[in-house]
Amino acid sequence: MGGIKTLIFLQLVYISTCMEQLDIIYEWKQLDFDFLTPEARQQAIDSGAFIPENNMPMGLEIYGDKLFITVPRWRNGVPASLTYVNLKDNSTKSPKLKPYPSWAAHSIGSDGKPEIVSPFRIRADRCDRLWVLDNGKIGNLEVNTTKFLPSIIIYDLKTDTILRRFVFPEDQVKEDSGFANIAVEDTDCDKTYAYAGDVGKPGIVVYSWEKNESWRITHHYFHPDPIACDFSVKGHNFSWTDAIFGLGLSAPNADNYSTLYFHPMASYNEFAVSTEYLRNQSVAEANFDAFKVLGSRGPNAQSSASFVDPKTGVLFYSLVNLNAVACWRTTNKEYGMKNQGRIYMDDEKMIYPTDIKVDYDENLWVLSNRMPIWMYSKLNPDEVNFRVFSAPVLNAISHTACDVTPRSDILTKYVNKLKNVTSKIASKINPNSGAASLQFSLIVLISSIILFSF
Ligand SMILES: *[C@@H]1O[C@H](CO)[C@@H](O)[C@H](O)[C@H]1NC(C)=O
Ligand SMILES: *[C@@H]1O[C@H](CO)[C@@H](O)[C@H](O)[C@H]1NC(C)=O
Ligand SMILES: *[C@@H]1O[C@H](CO)[C@@H](O)[C@H](O)[C@H]1NC(C)=O
Ligand SMILES: *[C@@H]1O[C@H](CO)[C@@H](O)[C@H](O)[C@H]1NC(C)=O
Ligand SMILES: *[C@@H]1O[C@H](CO)[C@@H](O)[C@H](O)[C@H]1NC(C)=O
Ligand SMILES: *[C@@H]1O[C@H](CO)[C@@H](O)[C@H](O)[C@H]1NC(C)=O
Ligand SMILES: *[C@@H]1O[C@H](CO)[C@@H](O)[C@H](O)[C@H]1NC(C)=O
Repeated sequence: MGGIKTLIFLQLVYISTCMEQLDIIYEWKQLDFDFLTPEARQQAIDSGAFIPENNMPMGLEIYGDKLFITVPRWRNGVPASLTYVNLKDNSTKSPKLKPYPSWAAHSIGSDGKPEIVSPFRIRADRCDRLWVLDNGKIGNLEVNTTKFLPSIIIYDLKTDTILRRFVFPEDQVKEDSGFANIAVEDTDCDKTYAYAGDVGKPGIVVYSWEKNESWRITHHYFHPDPIACDFSVKGHNFSWTDAIFGLGLSAPNADNYSTLYFHPMASYNEFAVSTEYLRNQSVAEANFDAFKVLGSRGPNAQSSASFVDPKTGVLFYSLVNLNAVACWRTTNKEYGMKNQGRIYMDDEKMIYPTDIKVDYDENLWVLSNRMPIWMYSKLNPDEVNFRVFSAPVLNAISHTACDVTPRSDILTKYVNKLKNVTSKIASKINPNSGAASLQFSLIVLISSIILFSF
């Protein structure tokens, strides 16, 4: 009996250390903004320009000392939809959001439109540019929605000035379009390509920096899968038919094109295509079989955001129904349930992981925001609702199926660690049970492996 209890205890210790491979860097009950003066804040509240409960963080990105956070204008009362916090300022875990690049960029112009309307996700490229994918919609959860054409706004991160604004041509924007995610292929700073996913009407709008032109690519793999449209998050059941969502770009392959790993939100599957086929619309149309199905994550494993760490080649992705973040090594030949690694899973802290990035110092970042509760019910302002997690990539993936250390080393590490722990405990239970402990550790090891696979 004692043995079994210890065994369970060890499993829990092991699993809990394993589940917590990310640290919570910031957390908020509600978002607040760094207004110029307390009076300006009060005025914004009085006029309805700032309605605290209507603000929800959606996307994140890291550049130097800045952690960027987007706050889409789904509802009224969002004072700034693109913001940042200073990573160097460690005086609080719930910092106020500063508008980027300025308050002026978020004030409504004479045409009823601020410089930045409503971005969901953004990308800082390695050429010091911030690519802001502006969805263009104000108040899509309100009675009246104002729609502008979506655009990509590109800022110079060194000077915080606008470099370019590219408004999507009308024929590339459909009635149901919703642009939620952007991936940027920045292998060449002058010949950079941006890929913007349309979750509303399946498609990718590809933008060429060099040509200052865009085109729309469609493929049936961008469509939602009808058997994967049911979601259940924290007791809220809903049906979403979201199309292509997760976009993760690999480091350049030998031919200098990257691989785009992608999946619709309403899907259990992962797909891939070389960007060679995205860079030219007629080439894409003539080669529909260049788009590959990699495999399935298994039932209940719908995923929103994803990101490929170019250094380790690990694909990170959210699992929204499972309150988890998981990973897969892109060097794996197979994509299936058993070679997915579990990075973090928590039914309180990781409710609705909404964005994932790896910064240029090899740290993984994750944002969770409880969005379905916010959308279908109400968030409790006395609870922590939004969290930013981080950890070095190598720590995050250690002891998972994505660990880049050779497999035999992991097993040796495992056995040694377990041997040490079990012999310590065994010596407490029975000071002369050295031999029994090895056998014991093997049982633990085997049952851990079983528990680890999804
Ligand atoms: C906060 O940052 C300062 C300066 O970077 C550093 O000296 C200090 O140890 C940090 N405090 C915490 C709690 O991390
Ligand atoms: C929505 O728009 C209509 C027509 O412009 C207007 O009459 C109505 O007051 C608006 N409703 C709200 C809640 O703003
Ligand atoms: C790029 O194209 C857009 C719209 O087609 C235009 O407004 C803009 O001036 C162009 N920018 C450059 C740098 O050519
Ligand atoms: C929501 O879905 C879950 C799992 O799919 C199910 O167990 C639960 O009964 C559903 N709840 C409601 C209120 O329909
Ligand atoms: C890839 O790019 C590098 C650097 O620009 C170049 O030297 C090389 O020839 C390219 N390879 C191919 C296959 O085009
Ligand atoms: C796209 O590819 C086609 C066929 O290879 C070629 O004729 C066309 O010039 C290419 N278009 C562009 C914009 O590069
Ligand atoms: C196990 O203990 C030995 C000696 O006490 C130590 O050298 C070794 O590093 C430990 N292994 C692990 C994985 O903690």
